[in-house]
Amino acid sequence: MNNIQHHDIKKLALDYGTPLYVYSKQSIEDNYTKLRDTFMKYYPHTRIHFSVKANSNLHILKQFNDMGCGADCSSPYEVMLAKHAGFSDDRIIYTGNYESVSDFSSLTDYKVKVNLDDITSFSRMHSVYNPEVISFRINPGIGKGGYEGITTGGTDAKFGVPYEKALYGYQLAKEKGYKRFGIHMMTGSNNLEPYYFAQVVEKLMMIAGNIFDKIGSAPEYVDIGGGFGIPYEDDDEVLDIELTAKLVAEVFEEKCAKYGFGKPSLLLEPGRYLVGNAGWLITKVTGVKHSYKHFVGVDAGMSTLIRPALYGAKHRTYVYGKDVPEWNVNLCGQICENSDIFAKNVFMPPVSEGDLLILRDVGAYGFTMASNYNNRPRPAEVIIDNDNVRLIRRREKFEDFLRLYES
Ligand SMILES: Cc1ncc(COP(=O)(O)O)c(C=O)c1O
Repeated sequence: MNNIQHHDIKKLALDYGTPLYVYSKQSIEDNYTKLRDTFMKYYPHTRIHFSVKANSNLHILKQFNDMGCGADCSSPYEVMLAKHAGFSDDRIIYTGNYESVSDFSSLTDYKVKVNLDDITSFSRMHSVYNPEVISFRINPGIGKGGYEGITTGGTDAKFGVPYEKALYGYQLAKEKGYKRFGIHMMTGSNNLEPYYFAQVVEKLMMIAGNIFDKIGSAPEYVDIGGGFGIPYEDDDEVLDIELTAKLVAEVFEEKCAKYGFGKPSLLLEPGRYLVGNAGWLITKVTGVKHSYKHFVGVDAGMSTLIRPALYGAKHRTYVYGKDVPEWNVNLCGQICENSDIFAKNVFMPPVSEGDLLILRDVGAYGFTMASNYNNRPRPAEVIIDNDNVRLIRRREKFEDFLRLYES
């Protein structure tokens, strides 16, 4: 699984305080190697861009850069962070959403690939910035995600260009002198079914076939986004990456041959798959209330990990040193919102103040979605590297809160 479990959770809590994000460097490497090697076995021109929004800790970005991975960035500051971590421009792709002119003008120092969210985005970009390679994010009319909030394709999704209109975007770009193109989609996150990936790639390739035939060129890359899911609960399926890669590569190569695309790069932009299971959250019980039911309160909250409050997401939770689940509890954070609940009506061992809890699989969309709501400091992050524990971001202090105010 990962090497966090071999560490003394109590010592980590004592040394670094709680709540605390703990990552496993080895698990990140294992996840990346598995995905890369499996896809490259079936299609050698596969390239992986880690989705920075999933976990943007600079040290983790540096690890991805050292492993030869690219970066998928969703804002100009993510591009700058990726540059800071050492990624070269040719391994960075920027995909915004309702991008502003100023978003594009902050990219002018770089030569990153730009993936446009709409045809109107093209005009805003073209007024200030002319990258060498562009693509449009296609909404293929279908989407699928683990929750509604992470379904990013289909007629209700706010992302991308409807496929019926996308041709016009490419024609416009060609008219303005652009010659090098890719094509992109991202239709949902946390998918566990291999056949869904093949189905949606087939759809994208048919859309691409039509577009590139009409504009008389071929895409340099086809970016199929991320969305590779992980199990969050014991009875969740594990995504069969071998089958996914095989099915995707088969349909991809078949359509490349049919439309005369040659061998474009197949880009993947995974976030969750690469870091999700590599992060745990350690939190401490601060209060136990026997009200209409058992309420267990901890020193983490929706400001630390918002996924349960935002999507109803579940994270397996363990009590350090106790394993007989006798209480039916609501597990709550300290934030002043009734939705600040990690889990409702779950069975856990009886706990008392000071007990430590471990929430699993928080490495993706955990810390990156943390906030200062209720003026709570964002937690520290540590990484386990072989047998060593390294602080990779300190806990925020009150002085950090005052830093940005004008006197
Ligand atoms: C454009 C884009 N690429 C990649 C990702 C990463 O998705 P995941 O973490 O499901 O792999 C996202 C997530 O929302 C995204 O919006």
